[in-house]
Amino acid sequence: MKASALKTFCFTLERIEFFLKNIKEIIEKLSTTQILSKEEIILLLNIDEDSATPLFEAANQVRLKYMGNDVHLRGLIEISNHCIKSCNYCGLRKENINLTRYKMNKNEILNSVNIAIDLGYKTIVLQSGESNVFPAEEIVEIITFIKEKGLAVTLSLGEKDNDVYKLWKEVGADRYLLKHETADPTLYQALHPDMSFAMRRLCLKNLKDLNFQVGSGCMVGLPEQTLASLADDLLFMQEIDVEMAGIGPFIPSPNTPLAHNSTGTVFMTLKMLAIARLLMPLAHLPATTALGTIHPQGRQLALQAGANVIMPNITPVHYRKLYEIYPDRISLGDKVKLDKLISSLGRTIANDAGHSPKMKLP
Ligand code: 5AD
Ligand code: SF4
Repeated sequence: MKASALKTFCFTLERIEFFLKNIKEIIEKLSTTQILSKEEIILLLNIDEDSATPLFEAANQVRLKYMGNDVHLRGLIEISNHCIKSCNYCGLRKENINLTRYKMNKNEILNSVNIAIDLGYKTIVLQSGESNVFPAEEIVEIITFIKEKGLAVTLSLGEKDNDVYKLWKEVGADRYLLKHETADPTLYQALHPDMSFAMRRLCLKNLKDLNFQVGSGCMVGLPEQTLASLADDLLFMQEIDVEMAGIGPFIPSPNTPLAHNSTGTVFMTLKMLAIARLLMPLAHLPATTALGTIHPQGRQLALQAGANVIMPNITPVHYRKLYEIYPDRISLGDKVKLDKLISSLGRTIANDAGHSPKMKLP
């Protein structure tokens, strides 16, 4: 090797060493302090596959220390795919006239709840597009039924007036999921022509003030999304002190303006999850269906990088097919497969409701 080439080689090695030392220090600091600057988060999001193992291991250890070995199962019922919004990434957007719309009737919902009970699930998640096909009072009846059965209720029904959130809280709803999708205001506006980040933030604040356990979350790999905006997603969720953070890859959906964009990567999603675990040790982190959809081991990888929740879909199959936010959504298969997946990782299925551990803090 020529002297000049050798010099360049040594310089590169030195830089890599410096970089790795830096990363190690950041991970160590984060495992104990939960404080990280935006620049440090960006540095972690930038690491390559060869250097990422310590990050995933640290997240896995923090998950074990704060959340234990239990995986919480939440039975997800997609009660309607009607939607009045125009999110550019989502197959349920109102402009998609190729989709058959449905609304589950009360009996169908109650049957699904009973199936969840038989499967041993302790939480029901009621999810829908954003619309008024379910008047607030109808949701009250469903919440009441589920609470009478002794289960926890999570709602994921979009932006509503504070009065409606209040009513649902009063009749016993425990949690609310409202993903912020992206904390980058410019990107938020571009993706949601008919919505505003300010309103999203207000709804999340209202839910917090009403004492809901609040879940938010974002997509990874959106067009024009930068590492800086991903860092902002994590800092935003830390700032509003979420009880749950749903982080999944963007998957292009046909019949949407983003149909021809590329899919978010498994690796970036896992790094986001791992950093989320280190920044928010007491947050519930689901191994998302979206991650399982783009990689056959997606959920297992997530569970080993900080995640501790799975949301099996218990929507009747003929409706599930119509809840097409993106194509080829995986189903978990049967309960036996799910039990196997969890035990193969040395994990256990929780037998409590899995409320946020923050609720037990003084
Ligand atoms: N890719 C990944 N996630 C999506 N969602 C909607 N469309 C997509 C997509 N194309 C997620 C959003 C939203 C929820 C309904 O589904 O995060 O909150
Ligand atoms: Fe509707 Fe939610 Fe899809 Fe937006 S993301 S179009 S609000 S279902």
